[in-house]
Amino acid sequence: MGRRQIDTLGLEGVIFVQADAGDAAVLDTLGDAQLVLACGIFGNVADHDIRSTIRGLSVLLVGGGSTIWTRHRLAPDLTPSIREWFVAAGFKETAFVSVADSSASVGSHRLVAKDPTRPLPRRLFEFIGDGAGGHC
Ligand SMILES: C[S@@+](CC[C@H](N)C(=O)[O-])C[C@H]1O[C@@H](n2cnc3c(N)ncnc32)[C@H](O)[C@@H]1O
Repeated sequence: MGRRQIDTLGLEGVIFVQADAGDAAVLDTLGDAQLVLACGIFGNVADHDIRSTIRGLSVLLVGGGSTIWTRHRLAPDLTPSIREWFVAAGFKETAFVSVADSSASVGSHRLVAKDPTRPLPRRLFEFIGDGAGGHC
């Protein structure tokens, strides 16, 4: 479906990769990113995997690059901690929106202090279950 959409929309310079997005070996082949959408991950992984993913984002993105991420705010709301973890990893928050009439939230962070010595974690995240439970 992804490949078909790229063709249908005539998106030039967009490649489609069907692979494990938590595996550093896969991510290492993609090169530096200007933008990473980390949507639908943080509500489906353990807290320590959220931290690994944030560290991984700080390696995958070019300096000045951005990430957009999602997470539900069901109790206990982890989004305040997530926002602190981004800042600790060298990001500046550019937006945080609690979606009205829903438990969803969307954040955006820009990498302002890239540490070129930081290695990519071998494993960024592992889904708990299949992610089909509707948690974002
Ligand atoms: C909650 S859905 C989010 C879908 C979409 N990104 C969004 O925000 O609407 C999570 C999706 O990630 C997929 N997924 C789970 N583990 C993955 C992995 N290691 N690599 C790539 N996709 C994975 C699940 O199969 C599921 O389709």
